[in-house]
Amino acid sequence: MTENKPTPDEIDFGFEKVARDDKRGRVAEVFTSVAEKYDVMNDALSLGVHRIWKSLLIDRLDPRPNMTLLDVAGGTGDISFGFLKRGGGKAIVCDINPAMLAAGQKRRQATDYQDRLTWLCGNAESLSLPDRSVDAYTITFGIRNVTDRDAALREAWRVLKPGGHFLCLEFSEPETPGLDKIYDLYSFKLFPRLGAMIAGDAESYQYLAESIRMFPRPKDFARQIERAGLSQVSFHNLSGGIATLYSAWRT
Ligand SMILES: C[S@@+](CC[C@H](N)C(=O)[O-])C[C@H]1O[C@@H](n2cnc3c(N)ncnc32)[C@H](O)[C@@H]1O
Repeated sequence: MTENKPTPDEIDFGFEKVARDDKRGRVAEVFTSVAEKYDVMNDALSLGVHRIWKSLLIDRLDPRPNMTLLDVAGGTGDISFGFLKRGGGKAIVCDINPAMLAAGQKRRQATDYQDRLTWLCGNAESLSLPDRSVDAYTITFGIRNVTDRDAALREAWRVLKPGGHFLCLEFSEPETPGLDKIYDLYSFKLFPRLGAMIAGDAESYQYLAESIRMFPRPKDFARQIERAGLSQVSFHNLSGGIATLYSAWRT
C-alpha cells in the first residue's frame, strides 16, 4: 500500500503520518497522560499476561550479581525490579519521560532496591552511557515508540560489552487463525474504552492499538537488529503471536 507509506520526512504515529520531529512530542503526550495509571492499565489490558511475558524475558537474562542491566524505555521499572529481585547486580532504568520515571520511583520496590537502582532520563537514540559499559540491554514495549529505531539499536550495540545480551519484548500481530480477528476486536474496541474508564484517556490507547499494527513483522525487525551489528538474533512468538521476544548478542 505505497500510498500510505510515509515520506522520508514523515513517520507513523499510530495510523497517522506525522513529521519525524513531531513524533517524540506526540509519544511524550501519550505517556505523560497515562503515567499515573500505567501499571493498572497494563494489568487490565493484558489480564495480567504482561507479567508472564516479562518474567520469561528475565529468565532469558539469567540475572547474576556481577551483571549491570540497562533497561531502556524502562517506564515504571518492571524489568529492572524483576532483574534485581532475581539476583541481578545493578540496574539502570532509562526513559525519555520524566512522568513515567516519577511513577516508577513511587513504587515500593524502588525503595527496596534503591542501592542498586539508577533512574535516568534519556533518549534511546542517544544514550549518555559509555561504550561497552553494560552486560545486558533490555527494551520492553518501548522500541515501537522510538522515532529512529536504527539509531536506538546502534546505541544498544554501542553500550553493550562484548558478550553482552540484548533482549526486546514488543507487541506483534497474532497470526493464529481466529485469534487475529478476536485480537482486532479486543484491541480496537476494548483498549480505548478501558483507557477512557481507567486512565480517562481513550486516545492514548487507540494509539497503542494502531502502533502495534504499524510495527514491522518479527522477521523484519529481527533483520533490523542484525543490521545494527548484533549477532545470533532469534525471536519467539508469545501467546499466539500477540507479543514477540527478541534476543541477540554483541560479539
Ligand atoms: C509502553 S511503555 C513501556 C514501559 C516498560 N518498559 C514496560 O514494559 O512496562 C513505553 C515507554 O517508552 C518510553 N519511550 C518512548 N520513546 C522513548 C525514547 N526515544 N527513549 C527512551 N524512552 C522512550 C515512554 O516514555 C514509555 O515509558
